[in-house]
Amino acid sequence: MAVLDSVKIADDLVRSYWHPIAHMSELANDRDFVLFEIQDFEVVVINDKGNLVAFDNLCPHRGARFFTEDYGNQMVKCLYHGWSYTRGKVNVAGIKTFQGCDIASARLNEFKLEVIGELVFFAIKPHTTLNEQLGPVISDLLVRIGGDIDSRADFNRYPFECDWTIALENALEPYHIPLIHTNTLATLNLGVGQNEFYGENSIWYSPVEDEKVAKRLRSLNRFYSVTEPYQGYMSIFIFPFSMISSTYGYSYSMQSFFPSSDSQSSFFTSRLYPVKNSEPKYKEITSSFVTSSAQINRQVFDEDHQICKRIPAKSWSTSAPKFTSTLEQKLLHFRRSCAEWNKSS
Ligand code: FES
Ligand SMILES: [Fe+2]
Repeated sequence: MAVLDSVKIADDLVRSYWHPIAHMSELANDRDFVLFEIQDFEVVVINDKGNLVAFDNLCPHRGARFFTEDYGNQMVKCLYHGWSYTRGKVNVAGIKTFQGCDIASARLNEFKLEVIGELVFFAIKPHTTLNEQLGPVISDLLVRIGGDIDSRADFNRYPFECDWTIALENALEPYHIPLIHTNTLATLNLGVGQNEFYGENSIWYSPVEDEKVAKRLRSLNRFYSVTEPYQGYMSIFIFPFSMISSTYGYSYSMQSFFPSSDSQSSFFTSRLYPVKNSEPKYKEITSSFVTSSAQINRQVFDEDHQICKRIPAKSWSTSAPKFTSTLEQKLLHFRRSCAEWNKSS
């Protein structure tokens, strides 16, 4: 069988790009960590006494995994023979027994890290700087969003039973909203809106056209401290695997669909980050809104998952589909970006 286009380019995309992985508030304390699975490896980002470190979660001794949870607060300590890592150094248990080897060279296998605004990105072998990858408009927007965010309120993760390209393209087009999200997203009555393209990234701005819903959303404004958010629904695509979306800027939902080694499965993670309240006393008032946003988000992704499961990986290629709606513009743009990598790999 021919190798799928998405399999051919996945490696290059994973290795060559910066990928958003956390908001600083999730890593605020010593030993706070988050873990991501990508293809056949893992990435852990941890706060090591105030410094953020990203590494492959494998003990440099004989490769036991340090962390098994998605996130939490835990020291980097291997349960097998007790090696640990702190203040940038690997501590070897019973170091004197390591003779005839260069034990002083024992290190974690680290990845590159960059923070923009308060959003943490990691990379393996980036083909460009993070700023260049994002471009000035999206970089500035992320600085604003990162500064508005309070902390993580929901962490939602499970394997999407479809190829990463299928999951992403679904999230890139609003054409499916009326049929797939009838009782959730479709109730906002989102307008056609407009797409803006910045290199390989893109933003969809769409007005909430249900006047009653829009009025209710506007009325929440005074409870939040937000810097010029878009008054409607906004979704930023950070090529190749991630997106950040928001309604009226009261919370930001960040998703990634990382490739797995199985083309009928991808690693989906979605987190919800409410923004800061204008006054601390409003936290309680807005907490039920945050809970219901998290619930609706979960339902929306479940709806997406159910339909994406029906699409085999071989339905995707880097060529444009034969028939495309104007609502599938971002999808065409995504395929063109992927096609470039298909050529060069
Ligand atoms: S494998 Fe980790 S200490 Fe041996
Ligand atoms: Fe959807």
